[in-house]
Amino acid sequence: MISFVGAGPGAADLITVRGRDRLAAADVVVWASSLVPAVLLEGVPPTATVHDSATMTLEDVLAVYAAVPPDAAVVRLHSGDPCLYGAIHEQIDWCLANDRPFEIVPGVSSLGAAAAVAGRELTVPGVAQAVVVTRLGGRTNDSMPPGQTPAALAAAGATMAVFLSAARPTELVAELLSATSAYDEHTPACVVVRASQPGERVVTTTVGELAGTMESLGARTTTLVLVGPALAAGGRRSRLYAPDFAHAHRRRSVPGTTSGRPA
Ligand SMILES: C[S@@+](CC[C@H](N)C(=O)[O-])C[C@H]1O[C@@H](n2cnc3c(N)ncnc32)[C@H](O)[C@@H]1O
Repeated sequence: MISFVGAGPGAADLITVRGRDRLAAADVVVWASSLVPAVLLEGVPPTATVHDSATMTLEDVLAVYAAVPPDAAVVRLHSGDPCLYGAIHEQIDWCLANDRPFEIVPGVSSLGAAAAVAGRELTVPGVAQAVVVTRLGGRTNDSMPPGQTPAALAAAGATMAVFLSAARPTELVAELLSATSAYDEHTPACVVVRASQPGERVVTTTVGELAGTMESLGARTTTLVLVGPALAAGGRRSRLYAPDFAHAHRRRSVPGTTSGRPA
């Protein structure tokens, strides 16, 4: 079995229990030292073979998979959640083409970790009910489909999480303030560097101040930028928890419960 495991944002206690179990039972581990702190490997058995993908191509990684029997416990450890910018699709296609069993073990994405550090909900009623995950087109610019750039998506005015873009703050701000953007220079923004890791930094700012903030932080990697009005305090309270709002699990105006434990 090849397990694509989300390592979480970096703190050793933010990997899932399932992910930690897969690492503890691994025969082979492939991990990216450039993205995943070494502390995540502490539970890997000394008998396991460990490869650092930072120096490997996709072909090198696939050769590791091909060299072990299908029942070997292989863990491919990805930062955050593997489904976001994890480049797992091409590995999964190889598994399908080669009849190799695989699973995906989800992880805590830096998206959730950054929101936690910022101390904000990303979906505030009446303010933002959509979260857009994107990035600047980069050296792999041809991988950016038209209409999915920060500039294009800024028109929605939703909460935006910008990955992989810390090295180009001026370009990012130009996109956030594009002609069709619903943001303006006063729109709240938050820069989170190394969420959950040693050296964690969080700075709340505005789109107008964002480039200067990012430049003064000097972080070019492991940085997530959150943008949107939901990042400011205030907003409408949720109807779901209003006393006069009934639903299948709660009658209207019940003054507290005796126990919240499952029956
Ligand atoms: C290759 S992507 C992987 C994203 C990952 N799959 C996830 O779910 O967080 C790497 C980018 O994720 C973001 N990132 C990953 N870990 C982070 C952290 N601990 N703090 C802030 N940003 C992080 C940064 O934007 C970084 O450039």
